[in-house]
Amino acid sequence: MRILIHDNYEKLSNWVAHYVARKINTAKPTAENPYVLGLPTGSSPIGTYKALVKLYKEGKVSFKNIVTFNMDEYVGISEDHHESYHYFMQDKLFRHIDILNANINILDGNVPDLEKECHDYEERIKKAGGIDLFLGGIGPDGHIAFNEPGSSLNSKTRIKTLTYDTIQANSRFFDNDINKVPKTALTVGVGTVMSSKEVLIIINGYKKARALQKVVEDGVNHMWTVSMLQLHEHGIICCDDESTMEMKVGTVKYFKDIEHKALSNLPKLQ
Ligand code: GLP
Repeated sequence: MRILIHDNYEKLSNWVAHYVARKINTAKPTAENPYVLGLPTGSSPIGTYKALVKLYKEGKVSFKNIVTFNMDEYVGISEDHHESYHYFMQDKLFRHIDILNANINILDGNVPDLEKECHDYEERIKKAGGIDLFLGGIGPDGHIAFNEPGSSLNSKTRIKTLTYDTIQANSRFFDNDINKVPKTALTVGVGTVMSSKEVLIIINGYKKARALQKVVEDGVNHMWTVSMLQLHEHGIICCDDESTMEMKVGTVKYFKDIEHKALSNLPKLQ
């Protein structure tokens, strides 16, 4: 697992955007052979999305032959609700780039048969040839997508009940009123994310320091579901200095040293 510790959130976001754009450009995707991205919501990827939009506007990357699968969606809030993940993705990324609507996949938390929706989502991912690169963020308790502590590390897309911690953390988006936060969500599983060819997780800020310490310095554990990344062949964590405050000085120095070159250069676009 690679750990890239960037000086700050801005540098981290710009680096991740260049990394994604480079991957897309290198793959030279076509309509018949698109590049498949897994995408998160939350505040962590906002800087990356901004930087990707900038790269698109500068003509350095196109999303025409990109297929996307989002990680999760709340159950029971309408797609045009300002806190739905459908709305978030349009607002932060999709409406600013040249992606085709038909290539966007987001779980629908309003269908009558939610289990079928989850099952079909896995089938759609398979049909698309699997996910080339899954981007993600984490909750303060180390959850990935909505795979709360204790989730099976082999889990697939399914309905999950949110923990009190997550409801409370996300209430900042719902007028700080925990009663307004949906109590269930549809989410890809830890296994779904880990089946991707590559996984890149964005971790920033003091609030994530404990989770980052667990995933980097402790073992694989279902209580910190992102720790499964240790078993992935191509797992990368891009974090900022702030989020490393719970790690040993030696660990931070080690990763800064071995990634020195990658950190001092933005991934080159072709
Ligand atoms: C929610 C999402 C996660 C996200 C997490 C952290 O729980 N389901 O995918 O990683 O929030 O969000 P933020 O990046 O805002 O801290």
